[in-house]
Amino acid sequence: MSLALAGCAVPDGGPAAAATNASATTPAEMTYGFGTLATPSELAAFRSPLPDGRGLPAGRGSVAQGQALYQQRCLACHGINLEGSIGDRLIGGRGSLVNRDPGKAPVKTVESYWPYATTLWDYIKRAMPMDAPGTLTDDEVYAVSAYVLSRANIVPADTTLDAQSLAAVRMPNRDGFIADPRPEAFPPAPRPSAARSADGG
Ligand code: HEC
Repeated sequence: MSLALAGCAVPDGGPAAAATNASATTPAEMTYGFGTLATPSELAAFRSPLPDGRGLPAGRGSVAQGQALYQQRCLACHGINLEGSIGDRLIGGRGSLVNRDPGKAPVKTVESYWPYATTLWDYIKRAMPMDAPGTLTDDEVYAVSAYVLSRANIVPADTTLDAQSLAAVRMPNRDGFIADPRPEAFPPAPRPSAARSADGG
């Protein structure tokens, strides 16, 4: 795959070259003579769906289809009851993240910890099965996500998931996260277009 980081490989005469001149080249506009611009289809592989479902592809899959797929592609590492072995435990632990008993370690799973079902879809699509990541179709990812969520008692066993219904799933720990209230610790990222017009535009 030939990929270039945005801003590292702008071809001569490209939009950035047209917008600048030799005496006012910003670091973001410098070229190094290697790489090619990533194509839209190459970039598409790097896009994640948002929690509200934007960016999810078409497709659908049922719990039953997901169960068959799980047995073929996931069970060896995650266990027949999703209890984990080589791979992580996927279900259980609900309510264990916050407790007052120092002897009880939190049990972090998809069921107890993850705030959005769209993250589950995205993670499986990119990273699982770990021995062959990226080999599942979109339909298969909907199906196996539905199966994991049903074993976690988050969706009923007769569920079929698609972009709309996946985004509508309410995860048990959805409200267990707080935003960092310190803007000075995590300032908003500068916007490249604003930097360019301040430089010379
Ligand atoms: C070859 C072993 C293997 C197979 C097969 C496999 N996994 Fe995994 N899985 C892992 C390992 C190891 C991790 C932990 C990865 C890490 O933490 O970086 C993991 C992590 C995960 C997680 C994240 C759990 C968490 O809470 O962080 C999910 C969800 C998951 N796998 C789902 C699946 C699904 C669905 C399949 C089948 C399509 C599958 N896995 C197949 C080994 C495997």
